[in-house]
Amino acid sequence: MRIIRSPKQMFEVSQKLKKRGCRTGLVPTMGALHKGHLSLIRRAAQENDKVVVSIFVNPIQFGPKEDFRRYPRNLKKDALLCRNENADFIFYPSAALMYPPGFRTQVSVRELSDVLCGAYRPGHFQGVTTVVAKLFNIVMPDTAYFGQKDAQQALIIQRMAKDLDMPVKIRVMPIIREKDGLAMSSRNAYLDSAQREKAAVLYQALNKARESVKSGIADCALLTKRARATIIKNKPRKIDYISIVDMETLEPVKKIKDKALLALAVWFGNTRLIDNVILKR
Ligand code: PAF
Repeated sequence: MRIIRSPKQMFEVSQKLKKRGCRTGLVPTMGALHKGHLSLIRRAAQENDKVVVSIFVNPIQFGPKEDFRRYPRNLKKDALLCRNENADFIFYPSAALMYPPGFRTQVSVRELSDVLCGAYRPGHFQGVTTVVAKLFNIVMPDTAYFGQKDAQQALIIQRMAKDLDMPVKIRVMPIIREKDGLAMSSRNAYLDSAQREKAAVLYQALNKARESVKSGIADCALLTKRARATIIKNKPRKIDYISIVDMETLEPVKKIKDKALLALAVWFGNTRLIDNVILKR
């Protein structure tokens, strides 16, 4: 496995792979890899000839008061994990090379980027789509792998790829959870043990909603009210949102007809956690 730090060099390697007819899978990450990421890398290795894992804590997707500085970074450990999952390359560029002086361009997916997390993290998704577009251009993957935990991000990237005719297939893989149901996330490392214990309530609330919908409840106001009541019992610091939205437009839904996305963002201490479930009748 090779670690490549320069976008130019990564591009040259990608070109060579293309010429040789290799199928390339890209797993874009910000490092601090956990089992969720590993499931993406594993799938990429099954479906491609070569796997590139990008590790880049992308400064432009963090707000000024967010956790860019404290975001966990551990290349040594991540490299070991990538090697164990048979990745071929780690693309590990610096911010200076990704955003050199004079950089001015932003990729923006309107509307989808302004709701749910976008309403609480202005500019976040523009930062994500801009870096992912760059990664697609540098690595030229046949398939790129994202996790369903970031459901809004996955949808926005699918929209971007479609709207901009990007020749890449987007694969969205299921959420990987801890034993108590907490969705795997690099940010879980910020939680102290009391917060970690309390955070399991998010999955309990999502699960209850899923069961309620199966048993015939379709009223979204009632479903979100119940989810909120469940979560509040564990005293989160703040609930940004608990919303049931259309799977494609992310617009709020009043009644579940076929399926919808229940998504939430909740703070335990200084840690903002997101999670979601697809509700099916
Ligand atoms: O999901 C993430 O880790 C990041 O948002 C991504 C897709 C790697 C872009 O920086």
